[in-house]
Amino acid sequence: MTDGVLKRLIEACREATSAADPTQAVRDALSMAVARPDGVLAEVPEFEGEDCILHRESAVSVFLVRQTPNTAGPPHDHGMPAVIAMLEGVEIHRHFRRDGDEIVLEREETVGPGQMLSLGPDDVHAIANPDDTASLGVHVYLGDIVGRERTLWDLRSGAAMAFSVGDYDRMVTSWR
Ligand SMILES: [Fe+2]
Repeated sequence: MTDGVLKRLIEACREATSAADPTQAVRDALSMAVARPDGVLAEVPEFEGEDCILHRESAVSVFLVRQTPNTAGPPHDHGMPAVIAMLEGVEIHRHFRRDGDEIVLEREETVGPGQMLSLGPDDVHAIANPDDTASLGVHVYLGDIVGRERTLWDLRSGAAMAFSVGDYDRMVTSWR
């Protein structure tokens, strides 16, 4: 699908799945890519919507995520470790802790260009873009995120539900 930097990044993420510490190995691969984002940005393909699947297999999924300006997505989990690295703009991550079926906001973290964050398989987060320009990040999941059953929460009612893209999109609000 891609040549050059993105292709090497995907290969490094695939190799990371058999490392002793796959999350750290993915972080190492991404840190090299985001240290010089121009190389990655030059290869970003045109895509519609917010997500571009660069690679997907049972052990690892690599996405480009372009978060729409002034939007906030609903909280969700992934059911697998994830590493996020920013290329352009910022993502605000709201981290929640589980309390039975409910979730409680714990802290907020802003990641910008060249910065990364890791999430464990049970972690719950929600992503927002507070700016007037789209953000772009690489999101790597240590599994097939598209096929995984996972959970989405409605912040207004507090209700938990099975994750679906349609429900996710329906619950996106403006950030400001
Ligand atoms: Fe997420």
